[in-house]
Amino acid sequence: MRKHTLCFLMMLGAMVTLTSAYAQQKMEKSFKPSELWHDTDGQLINAHGGGILYANKKYYWFGEKRGKQVSQGVTVYSSKDLYAWKYEGVALSPDKNSESEITEGCLIERPKVIYNKKTSKYVMWFHLELKGKGYAAAKVGVAVSDKVTGPYKFVDSFRPNGNMSRDMNLFVDDDGSAYHIYSSDENMNMRISKLTNDYLKATKEDKLLFRRQREAPAIFKYQKRYYLVSSGCTGWAPNEASVHMADNLFGPWKLMGDPMKGPNAKSTFGGQSTYVLPLVGKKDAFIFIADKWNPKDLMDSRYIWLPVQFIEGQVKIEWMDQWNLDWFKKTIL
Ligand code: GAL
Repeated sequence: MRKHTLCFLMMLGAMVTLTSAYAQQKMEKSFKPSELWHDTDGQLINAHGGGILYANKKYYWFGEKRGKQVSQGVTVYSSKDLYAWKYEGVALSPDKNSESEITEGCLIERPKVIYNKKTSKYVMWFHLELKGKGYAAAKVGVAVSDKVTGPYKFVDSFRPNGNMSRDMNLFVDDDGSAYHIYSSDENMNMRISKLTNDYLKATKEDKLLFRRQREAPAIFKYQKRYYLVSSGCTGWAPNEASVHMADNLFGPWKLMGDPMKGPNAKSTFGGQSTYVLPLVGKKDAFIFIADKWNPKDLMDSRYIWLPVQFIEGQVKIEWMDQWNLDWFKKTIL
């Protein structure tokens, strides 16, 4: 056989293997926490410290776009089934203008998007650190778009009611009121502020939730109660998670302990919370989402998705090597 024919056949073979690997991955309807997760184009999903919004009959996953270290804005992916994610592009790009607060070189972390029914706008909040200033600015950035996938336009940055704000999350309650939950005062305190009706600013309704050094807040509502998962403060290194519970968003919040169970549970399976996703169309079903950071190559940080269990008034998040949404059908919550 001629040399170039052999080469061609080998390349064809490699392509068939690759394509079938992706096809198999697409077909495979399961979550594999900490494993590589590719999008429908076969690229690694690059959406860290993320959050998920359900809109127009699809889930949209927003997260930090990372290079090895550098912050490259916010990516967005869409999915109908939560397993297969289509890359929709960069929802918020750093600004080329060096005068902008989100100029290239700034840090955009933990983006979260919510939809405002009154203004028909998608509103993104994120932790913003200014270029060359480390983590000193401790601000939130706000960006808006008419379309869920963006492009989002940066509109404002501030410290809510003058308070430092680093790791954060957003929560929309059943009545449409939205809240910003944030690590404040050099991460020594967790705070909450109610947003204005247009979701663009923090109101004066702003309160200390608890005095405890916590980060990575991930909040959800289950049977009229609020639950807040958070991590300790050890940078990219994993640590022990905890969950607080409250009947009222403004407190009092009660510490319920560490919900993680299984190997490596005391370090959140090597991860750090970022979001708790309520399943659409399935009552009382939630997925806990965490980042397994790789500080040497942030882009290659992995994702941990696990079902949330409620057992005798306690929240339990148990390690599983592989699972799928049928778990919610089989389990009586
Ligand atoms: C973590 C925080 C991350 C990132 C990191 C930087 O504690 O949760 O979002 O800010 O520190 O070291």
